[in-house]
Amino acid sequence: NQVKIFAPATVANVSCGYDAMGFALQALGDEMVFTKTDSNVVTISKIEGAELPFEADKNVAGVVAKLMLEDSKSDFGVDIQIFKKFIPGSGLGSSAASASGSAFAINQLLGNKYSNLELTKFAMHGEVVACGSAIADNVAAAIYGGFILVRNYQPLDIVEIPSPSELVATIIHPQIEVKTEDARKVIKPEIPIKTAIAQWANVGGLISGLHTSDFDLISRSLVDYVAEPARKHLIPHFDAVKNAAIEQGALGAGISGSGPSIFALSKGVETANNVAEAMNKIYKDKNIDYKIYISRI
Ligand code: HSE
Repeated sequence: NQVKIFAPATVANVSCGYDAMGFALQALGDEMVFTKTDSNVVTISKIEGAELPFEADKNVAGVVAKLMLEDSKSDFGVDIQIFKKFIPGSGLGSSAASASGSAFAINQLLGNKYSNLELTKFAMHGEVVACGSAIADNVAAAIYGGFILVRNYQPLDIVEIPSPSELVATIIHPQIEVKTEDARKVIKPEIPIKTAIAQWANVGGLISGLHTSDFDLISRSLVDYVAEPARKHLIPHFDAVKNAAIEQGALGAGISGSGPSIFALSKGVETANNVAEAMNKIYKDKNIDYKIYISRI
């Protein structure tokens, strides 16, 4: 009658895959507790670590839980407790963790009625509440784990991408907030065909490199001509942090989701640690508050 879950932080876009790629972090995520009640409603009794609405209709976890209980015509209610370990506006899929965590846990309480694809669709409703767009890259990564590709939105088609176990992510989060809704407004609605060709070629390269553990190909493909150039001015010293990571041997680095977090991917923990130190140094020297995470995928 009670489910306790870990809802992972996620890195969306992965440089070239704007709205189409994402991966989940093993070492960072929220904890959530879901308890069946006989009240027939969804309540939120505890939220720690962030200022979020307790009203179920305004809270992404609450919205997703309500939808699923209605859809399944369940005869019970649920109380939700949320322990946030990373904050909204970080670019690490905070709302997606709440939404997908809720979808996953409610499904457990319902006896695993729904598939991962269906859970992703439910969780996307939470993203609408959080940022106004039904984006799947963060929620699908949180639900499936590892790397995912959102191959299509209508109908939704999620592809799990195998990836080498040696891949380690380093993430630095300058302590400012970037709202996804605002960061989406700076992306131009149209891109020139030459840019599109370069971008989709890199997505193909990245997917192939992940499949075959070709680290050079992964490295060459971690390039973004679409979101990064339009958004990097929102992130303090983005180029310096990115260059420092690559100089220390990172395969690539870019904006995590809609920012302000910056992610780097490295082969092995030792390189990821060196990359973390180099990223640290930039923000320390510039007196910028930050948090840093190192995680397997
Ligand atoms: N793909 C999204 C964006 C991620 O970059 O705006 C945020 O959910």
